[in-house]
Formats: sequence, C-alpha cells, structure tokens
Amino acid sequence: MSANSPAAVVVLAAGGGTRMKSNSLPKVLHEVCGRSLVGHAVAAAEELTPQQLVVVVGHMREKVEEHLAAHHPGARAVVQEEQKGTGHAVRTALEALAADGVELDGTVIVTTGDAPLLTGETLGALAAAHVGQGNGVTVLTAVVPEPFGYGRILREADGAVAAIVEEKDASDAQRAIAEINSGVFAFDAKLLAVALAEVTTDNVQGEEYLTDTLEILRTAGHRVGAVVAADFRDILGINDRVQLAQARRLLNDRLLERAMRAGVTVVDPATTWMDVQVSYEPDAVVLPGTQLQGLTHLGEGCEVGPNSTLKDTRIGVGARVSNTTADSAVVGDFASAGPYAYLRPGAKLARKAKVGTYVEVKNSELGEGAKVPHLSYIGDATIGEGTNVGAASVTVNYDGVNKHRTVIGAHCRTGSDNMFIAPVTVGDGAYTAAGSVISSDVPPGALGVARAQQRNIAGWVERKRPGTTSAQAAAAASEGAGEA
Ligand code: UD1
Ligand code: CA
Repeated sequence: MSANSPAAVVVLAAGGGTRMKSNSLPKVLHEVCGRSLVGHAVAAAEELTPQQLVVVVGHMREKVEEHLAAHHPGARAVVQEEQKGTGHAVRTALEALAADGVELDGTVIVTTGDAPLLTGETLGALAAAHVGQGNGVTVLTAVVPEPFGYGRILREADGAVAAIVEEKDASDAQRAIAEINSGVFAFDAKLLAVALAEVTTDNVQGEEYLTDTLEILRTAGHRVGAVVAADFRDILGINDRVQLAQARRLLNDRLLERAMRAGVTVVDPATTWMDVQVSYEPDAVVLPGTQLQGLTHLGEGCEVGPNSTLKDTRIGVGARVSNTTADSAVVGDFASAGPYAYLRPGAKLARKAKVGTYVEVKNSELGEGAKVPHLSYIGDATIGEGTNVGAASVTVNYDGVNKHRTVIGAHCRTGSDNMFIAPVTVGDGAYTAAGSVISSDVPPGALGVARAQQRNIAGWVERKRPGTTSAQAAAAASEGAGEA
C-alpha cells in the first residue's frame, strides 16, 4: 500500500444509461479497447490499492455484478435499489460498508463508472493534492469547449471553489462557465459522511446531489480544493455510442503511442486497434488493418498484419503473421502464418513452423519446422518436427458425435489431397501418396497409399460427346499424333 493509499474508492455505476439505446447491455458494460467501462474505472482505482473498492450498481445490476465477479473480483458491488442521485449513491455505499463494520479513516475517492480515459495516475494526483493541501474535499475539474450538461464550478473572487451548480439549476451566467465537474472527488471520509447527511433533494431534479457536499463543507469551515485536469479529454464521460467511439479512438491512440515509444513500429495508427492488456517487445512491426486484442503478445522483431485480428495470441520472436485471424494461439519464434490463415484456440506452432495460405488450425501442435503450406484443415492433431503436410489435406476429426486425434510423426512427407480419418497415426519418417484417404495407421518409414487405381477408357469423349469442343480437340490431338 502506498503512502496515499485511500481508505476507499467508490465507483458510481448505478445509472440507467438510456442514451446508449440498448435493450440488453447496461451502459457500464460497453467496451473500449478490450475492457468494459466499469472495468476501466475499477482498473484505475486498483492502481491506488484502496482498502475498500466499491462499485455502486443498480440498473441491470445482475449483469454488472456477474461481470465484476468474473473480471474484477477485487471490487465489491453495492446495490442502490433506486437511483436517487449521486449523493444517495455514495451514502448507500458508505452505509453498506458501515453495516459490515468497516470504519473508514482517511481519503475516500468517488469516481464514475463511465469515464474510461480516467487513469490511476490522475486519481493518484487528485488524492495526493487532496492530502497535501489538507482539504475536506477536492474535486477534479476540467475546462471544456462544450460545458453543456455538466455541473459548473463556481469560484470566489480569490479563486477558491465555492460550490457546484448543475446545468438544470444554473443561471444563464453560471451556464457560461467552462470549468466543469468531472464527477470525481477526494473526500475526507469522516467529513463526507457528515456532509452527505445534510444533503437535501431541494433541486430541479429532486435528487440527492453529491455535488452539494462542497458548499456544505465550505460553509462548515473546511477547505475545498480543486485539481484541474491537464487534458479535458481525460475525464470524458460516455453517455451515448458516439462518445463511446470517440473514447475508444482516444484510448487507442494513447495505447499505440505508448507501444511506439516502447519500440514497436505501427505503420498506420488510423487502422490499427490495440486493447489495454496487449504486450510487446521492441522492433515488433504492426502493418495496417490489424487488431490486437485481449492478452495478445508481440515478440521482438515479429511482423504482424496487414489485415490481421489476433486475440489472446502469442507471437514469437521474429515470427511473421499476415492476413490472419487468430484466437488463443501460439506462434513460435520465427514461425509464420498466412496469408489467409485461421488459427483457432489451441493452435500451437513451434519454432520455425509454417501455416500457409487458406489453412485452418485448431487444437493442434506443429513441431519445429513443420509445414502445412496450402489449403488445409488441421484439427485435433499433433504434427512432428520437420514434417511437410501436402496441399489440400484434412484431418477428419469429427465422426458426427466425438472428436478424434490425428498424429503425424516427425520428418514425414504426406501427399497432397490426403484425408486423415482420425483416430489415426502416421509414424516418423513415413510418406503418404497424394489423394490418399488414410484410415489406418502408417508405420514409420512406410509409404501409405490409399486410392483407387486409375484406368483410362480410350476414345470415350469422341464416342459419348460427339461434336463438342472437347471431341474436336481430342480428334485434332489424335490427328497430330498420326502425322508425327
Ligand atoms: C454528474 C454531476 C455533474 C458532473 C457530471 C460529470 C451530480 C449531481 N452531478 O451529473 O456535476 O458534471 O456528473 O459527468 O453529481 N449514479 C448512480 N446513482 C444515482 C445517480 C447516478 O450510481 O442515483 C451514477 C451514474 O451511473 C453515473 C454517475 O453516477 O456513473 C453520474 O450520474 P449522472 O446521472 O450521469 O450525473 P450527471 O447528471 O451527468
Ligand atoms: Ca453523466
């Protein structure tokens, strides 16, 4: 726990989010760069290592609770049955903690579940200023080009913060103020509880406004401070899907900038998308049209893209992946995939392995230097090192009920257009003939042949398809042969 570790962070996330126009997804579960809006708030809060981390839920709360339990188990959900205002929401959180015997002492940060660009760094700076200045409450503000809808910061002639007035309660003169309330605060825990008890619903919306606590504390003689965000975009709140896309673009730009500063080449930031948890090593190159999702990792000097979507996929040192979709796959050092490969969960390419054009791989391991270069499906298979699988091969892994494994040993050469009817094993160093349907095991070093003998019926076309261009071509060929 750091020196400024707060007693609690309270994330407000109970509101309806009606402007998202969703029938099924609460606002705070919409995603930006691989993390839900509330997930971003929780992740920022976690950077402060608070003693208590509470998320106030209400609207579609089962979904939010389930999401938090699955992805952010460190956060505790507290239910606000009716959304009676931000002050009521914080009071509900404090009462739930008190009911559990938690006595808060120190700083309480209140933040919002719909501002994904807000970082732990910004929250930490707010907490530090709050403690450093000995304030009762400190509000994070921003000067914005379009203040409509926000609470405005009212300051005294000497610059001290006097109060916050909501848009709907403001006079025309107050509405002209460009400094707005971000909705993020640092409070002294004890003073917060006292002030919340004094908040009334005496306003246009008939709600308990958290913002009223500033004037209450100031009137009681406590210091009220403000930290102005360096960049107003840091505090952008999401109310609709247009803002959701804007926030995604801004966060993506930040993530790409961080990657570039760490030594990753991003050829076209405008068409490259990166999730928050993506990691990378220097000299990785990302070509245009590439989406890096989830826990994807780029090894040193690898090249990915163009037009690739990689989710939870590990790309090795010096590996090359182009025009590829991959999910939960591992591409080993100096291995390659694509163009036009589909690596599904459990596809593991060892060092220098190759998966080529129009090849799908699922739940299969390719040994070192193994190659599946063209037009194939490899599912539930193990392919040994140095083996080459011929073009247009299929592991026939599904009998309609169960999946079965195909094992192909090391240094094999399987022919083009093979079907491997699993379960089946091809031994080390074996060959198979082109066009074979391999339904029994092939011993090491053997040639497996499983196809019908070819027979040619002479003159068939001229007899059965007379007058066609084929028959004419055949006749011309036999004449030519006769002349020769
Ligand atoms: C609030 C602030 C406003 C500020 C703005 C910043 C108040 C009274 N106003 O206004 O000064 O500029 O945020 O975005 O605080 N919530 C609950 N329970 C409730 C009501 C709200 O959990 O009963 C949550 C919402 O889910 C949201 C946050 O609190 O995450 C803010 O609520 P919202 O209704 O968006 O407040 P604004 O009117 O935008
Ligand atoms: Ca809002």
